[in-house]
Amino acid sequence: MRQVHIVGNWKMNQTTSEVDTFFKELGDLSEVSAQAWIAPQAIHLDRLLKFPQIKCGAQNCAQNDSGAFTGELSPKSLKDIGAHFTLVGHSERRSIYKESDELLNAKTLKALENDLVVIFCVGETLEQREANQVETVLKSQLENGLRGLNSTHIGKVIIAYEPVWAIGTGKVATPEQAQQAHKYTRSVLESIDGFSAQETIILYGGSVKPDNIKGLLSNEDIDGALVGGASLKGQSFKDLCTQAQ
Ligand code: PGA
Repeated sequence: MRQVHIVGNWKMNQTTSEVDTFFKELGDLSEVSAQAWIAPQAIHLDRLLKFPQIKCGAQNCAQNDSGAFTGELSPKSLKDIGAHFTLVGHSERRSIYKESDELLNAKTLKALENDLVVIFCVGETLEQREANQVETVLKSQLENGLRGLNSTHIGKVIIAYEPVWAIGTGKVATPEQAQQAHKYTRSVLESIDGFSAQETIILYGGSVKPDNIKGLLSNEDIDGALVGGASLKGQSFKDLCTQAQ
């Protein structure tokens, strides 16, 4: 049985007082059965660790444990302060910071070596969808980014399918489009070492809101959501978790 996961990606948002307001609004999650995770800006990780009902993680991490890498975030230090997971390969990292498949693969392996769960993000642009390249893009991102994993990594990597055209645009994929991509993703995982495809959690991301999450999650291969904008307010995040039951 794959457990539903709702993961908030706060991106470069939230001041300390906004974080405190978020948790005031969020209140108690003990009635919620979904896993509730948040990736805040790294400067807020320590603050989020005070709220044990949420597991927190990073939006990105380096491919090295330590050294002369100014501005980077060490996976070893993330583990050390109590982070549970890290995102790798979010489309904003791929497009704005030009992170290659090779670099994302190195980051994934290093995060896993440090016992962090990796949420590995994949997804096609609108241009690629219109050119019928969804499957080719997903296959190549998955195979190249997840090279070198082995049986010790089973259960440690979550996949997030995030069509780039749906991120922050209000244009959510239809449940059918999302299910089709998730089913295909699961079929690709069958042939990648380090995965038990049927047990792998695959999240959908891209304009998920409390009023569309149910339709997405009613599909067999959609196990949760990676949510940006709608995860910033405590009430909205709670609604997402409740709707996901
Ligand atoms: P969005 O972002 O929910 O604001 O579309 C999703 C993401 O980038 O992970």
